[in-house]
Formats: sequence, C-alpha cells, structure tokens
Amino acid sequence: MKMRSLTLIGVVLWSCLSASMTFAKTTDQKRIDEQTGLIIDRGFETVKTNCTICHSAKFILSQKGDRQTWTDIIRWMQATQGLWQFDAKTEDLILDYLSTNYAPTKQYRRAPIPSSLMPPPEN
Ligand code: HEC
Repeated sequence: MKMRSLTLIGVVLWSCLSASMTFAKTTDQKRIDEQTGLIIDRGFETVKTNCTICHSAKFILSQKGDRQTWTDIIRWMQATQGLWQFDAKTEDLILDYLSTNYAPTKQYRRAPIPSSLMPPPEN
C-alpha cells in the first residue's frame, strides 16, 4: 500500500474517533435523572433531597435564573412557604447547581422581523 493512502486511512480513523469522543462527552454532560428530570451534575443529590419534597422538580425545570434570581426564589419560599434555612455551604452548592444548569438562556426569543420585511400597514 502506498504511504499516501495509509495517511488518508489514518486521518479518516482519527476523525471518526475524535467525533465519537466529542459526542460521548456532550451526551455525558447532560445526563438526566429519570426520576426527577433534573440534570445530573455537582450538587444534584442535594437539590433532589431538598427541593423535590413539597413540589416536583418541574418547578425547577420550568424556571431559569442567574444566582440572584435563584436566591430570591429560595428566600421567598423560606419567608412564605415553610422552606427551611440552609447552612452556607449547602446553600452555596444548591445555588451553584441551579445557576449553572438552569441559567437564563441568552436569547429568549428571536429578534424582531425588520420592518422592511413586514407587509405594508393596512391603511
Ligand atoms: C417546604 C416546602 C418547599 C420546599 C422544600 C421547596 N419549595 Fe419550592 N415552592 C414551594 C411552594 C409552596 C411553591 C409555590 C407553589 C405554587 O405556586 O403553587 C414553590 C415554588 C417554587 C418555584 C416556582 C416559583 C415561581 O415563581 O413560580 C420554584 C422554581 C421552586 N419552588 C424551586 C425550589 C427549589 C430550588 C427548592 C430547593 C432549594 C425548593 N423549591 C424547595 C415550597 C417548597
């Protein structure tokens, strides 16, 4: 076999390998807990234990927020819904988990359609 075709086979094999490794990595990063639907990441167990007692995790799944928003939600539940206080370490872990995995999406909705592309006004 010529050296060039060997090189070609090598390149093809390498591409397949790195592509499948990338795929495995991305799917691995988003493992979902079957019972709650929560993303499995650092702090997951703590959140599952503390946050799915009074309501299902659907409340978390349908909420997005930065650290401040999640802090506000927790303070609100503590003040009005009987949620207990956390020690600083536990609260930090919970807030890390929530603000990392349920962060605000950059673009919530598409940009408006430019007026030049819209139909003319009706009158
Ligand atoms: C002691 C009970 C209790 C615990 C524990 C609890 N919650 Fe709640 N949570 C509530 C109640 C009650 C509501 C309001 C339900 C409703 O609106 O009908 C609520 C609502 C929410 C909402 C929706 C807020 C909104 O603006 O609609 C989110 C998000 C939420 N909880 C997240 C969490 C997280 C995260 C944790 C863990 C840190 C947690 N909850 C633990 C009682 C609790």
